[in-house]
Amino acid sequence: LPIVVLVSGSGSNLQAIIDDAQADLPVDIRAVISNKADAYGLERARKANIPTRVLEHTAFEDRSSYDQALIALIDEYQPALVILAGFMRILTPSFVSHYQGRLLNIHPSLLPKYRGLHTHQRVLESGDKQHGASVHLVTEELDGGPLILQVTVPIEPDDNEASLAARVLTQEHIIYPTVIRWFAEGRLSVTNGVIEMDGVA
Ligand code: GRF
Repeated sequence: LPIVVLVSGSGSNLQAIIDDAQADLPVDIRAVISNKADAYGLERARKANIPTRVLEHTAFEDRSSYDQALIALIDEYQPALVILAGFMRILTPSFVSHYQGRLLNIHPSLLPKYRGLHTHQRVLESGDKQHGASVHLVTEELDGGPLILQVTVPIEPDDNEASLAARVLTQEHIIYPTVIRWFAEGRLSVTNGVIEMDGVA
């Protein structure tokens, strides 16, 4: 399955996908694209001989012109799935609708709880006993699209933001490649915004 991965930062989720692709995940990572030239995720891609592209948002006048350029860049690679992996940009409705049903995101919370930023800090302040991560389809609503898979982790009494973030991230590295695998193996599909799952006993 041809995919394109978008990153802004460390790219540890990208790394998990690369590692699985080098094992038995049937995807072809056609390109890794970043809005930041110094994103470490680009370095991870280079090390794996994956083409990298940088499209800096600072070079564009507004969100809509940036997103149009980003669509043109992504579509050079004709991906069946576009994977947001720590891509720290809010996307315009026209971008989202262009990739309807084939745009995925991972978010570090048990959505619909804690959309947006600083999820680990907010959950620690809340007194919740559990936290987690969610893979979802992207719609126009920020962190609001249909859920595909969630993982739960416990919150320990001595947790801080860093310890909790690390525990969640380890699980992200399992659930994101899992969902991508379901798509790649044709077990999961999206038709008119409806998620369908086949062949799972
Ligand atoms: C992850 O926590 C992900 O859920 C969020 O951004 C972070 C990206 O981390 N969307 P990385 O760049 O994959 O290491």
